[in-house]
Amino acid sequence: MIDSKWGKRVIYQIYPRSFKDSNGDGIGDLNGIAEKLDYLKDLGVDAIWLSPIYRSPMRDFGYDISDYYNIDPIFGSLSDFDSLIKKAHGKGMKVLMDFVPNHTSFEHPWFKESRSSKNNPKRDWYIWKSPKKNGAAPNNWLSQFGGAAWELDKKTGEYYLHTFDVSQPDLNWRNSQVVEEILNVLRFWMRKGVDGFRVDVAYYLFKDPFFRDEPHNPTHTEHHIHIYTIALPETLNMLKTLNSVINEFDDRFMVCEIYTFLHEIVNLYKIVDHQSFVPFNFSFISLPWNAQEQKKFIDEFDELVGHDYFPTYVLGNHDQPRIVTKLGEDAARTAALLQLTLRGIPFIYYGEELGMRNVKVPEKKAKDPMAVNMKGFNFGRDPERTPMQWNASRFGGFSSVEPWLPLEKKFKERNVASEEEDKKSFLNLYKSVINLRKTRKSLAGGRLVPLDFKNPNVLGFLRQKADEKTLVLANFSEEKQIVELPKGSWKTILSTKLDVENRKEKGQVKLRPSEGIVLCR
Ligand code: GLC
Repeated sequence: MIDSKWGKRVIYQIYPRSFKDSNGDGIGDLNGIAEKLDYLKDLGVDAIWLSPIYRSPMRDFGYDISDYYNIDPIFGSLSDFDSLIKKAHGKGMKVLMDFVPNHTSFEHPWFKESRSSKNNPKRDWYIWKSPKKNGAAPNNWLSQFGGAAWELDKKTGEYYLHTFDVSQPDLNWRNSQVVEEILNVLRFWMRKGVDGFRVDVAYYLFKDPFFRDEPHNPTHTEHHIHIYTIALPETLNMLKTLNSVINEFDDRFMVCEIYTFLHEIVNLYKIVDHQSFVPFNFSFISLPWNAQEQKKFIDEFDELVGHDYFPTYVLGNHDQPRIVTKLGEDAARTAALLQLTLRGIPFIYYGEELGMRNVKVPEKKAKDPMAVNMKGFNFGRDPERTPMQWNASRFGGFSSVEPWLPLEKKFKERNVASEEEDKKSFLNLYKSVINLRKTRKSLAGGRLVPLDFKNPNVLGFLRQKADEKTLVLANFSEEKQIVELPKGSWKTILSTKLDVENRKEKGQVKLRPSEGIVLCR
C-alpha cells in the first residue's frame, strides 16, 4: 500500500466566524485560531482546514469572495495569516484553505467590470445570456438557494447565472483568462506556505454550452436533475488541472466537495494523483444509520477505491445538521469511532469532538442566505455554525461580547474545560481513539478486512498490518447485541462508553445499546 502522508492525517474543519474571537467583536478570527492550536495539537489534529477567510461582503459568509488575494478584516490581516501558518507549521500542523472557484461575490471588481457593459473585456468572465423573446430567463435552471438561477441585470438587459445566491455570480470556466487567474490564486497561497485546499462545489465548474433546460425531478417537484450543470466531463478535466497545480509544490493536498454516488466518487479517484487529491465521501451523512446499508457502502467503497488511494469519511460540516442532533449521543459516539478507525482520512467538524448539537435559531434572527431566501422551509445552516464552547464563562469562552450566533443552551455543561475533566466525555473519546489510531500501525495504515456477522445490527471490520490486527465492532441498534468473535483470544481495549480497558473476551462479546468497541489480540 502507498505510504501517503496525507492518508494518515487527521483533518479538522474550522468555521472561523465561530471558533474563537480574539478582539471582542463577537466573531471568530485568525488570532483566535492561533490561540487554540495547542488544544488542537493535544486532540491529535494534523491539519486544519479553514472555511473561507478571503475578503468578502459575507452574504454567504465568505463563500462570496470579493478579493482572492486578501484576508477579510473581520478575520485579521495577511500578516496574521502568515503568523498563523508559521505557528501551525512550528507545531507540525498543516493549514488548508477553502477555495471557491465556481463563483465570486457580485462585489468582486471582476464582476463590477463585467456587468458595466456588454463590451467590457471582462464581460465574458461570467455567464451572461439574453432573455427569451418574452423577457423570461434563458432557461429553467434553478438556484441551490431557491428560485431561478438567473438574475436580470437591468442596465445591460441580460441575465447572469448564479447557481447559489444572487450575490454569487458564476464564473465562466470556458474563458481561458478566468482559468489562468484562478490557477494563479492557488499558486499565490501555496507560495505563502498554505498546504492545500478544500474545493467548494467542485462539480459545478462547467455548464452546458447550449444552456439546455434540465429535466424535472419526479421525486421532488421543486428540483431538477442536474444533467447540464453538474459533473460535466469538462469539469472532471479541470479538476485534473487543479490537481496538477497542487503537484507543482511539495506535499500539498486537495479535497473536493462533491455530493454524489459511490461510482462517481471512485471514478474521480482514478483520474487524479492518489498522493495529493481526494474527493469527500458523505456516506455517513447521506445514508441511513443502519448497519447493513453502511457496511455495504464501506466494503464496496474501500475495495473500489483500492489500496493505493485513500477513502475519506465525514460526519458533518457547516452545511449539515450536527451528528448528535441526528443520531443521539450514544450512536454519534459510535459513528465517531467508525470514522476514526476506518481506513481513510477523517475530517472532524469543529465542536463534533464535544458532541455539540444544532442550536435553534429563530427565523427572525436567521443569518444564512439559504434560510433567508427560503423562509418557512427550515433550510438554514445557522444551527450547525454556532460558537465553539470553550468553557462555562458568560459567552462560553468564545468571546467577551454577545456572539454573532447564539450559544448552545447547555454550553455550561458541554465545553472543552469541563470535558477535559470528565474521563468519559465525548472529548476524551476523540482523544483516545485518535491516540489509538496513531499508535496502532494497523489503524494508521493497515488494510480493511470486511467481516460478516450473523447479526444484522452489528457492523464490524478488521484492520490489519503485518501481524497486528485491530477489530472494531459497532452496534447500530438501541438494544444489546451478542457477537461471535473471530477465532483467537481477543481483549476489548476501548468502548465508546470509555469504561472498559483490557477486558479479556471469551468467544463472544456483548455490545450494549449503540455501543462501539475496539479489540486487539
Ligand atoms: C458549498 C459550501 C456552502 C456554500 C456553497 C456556495 O456547498 O459548503 O457553505 O454556501 O458551497 O459557495
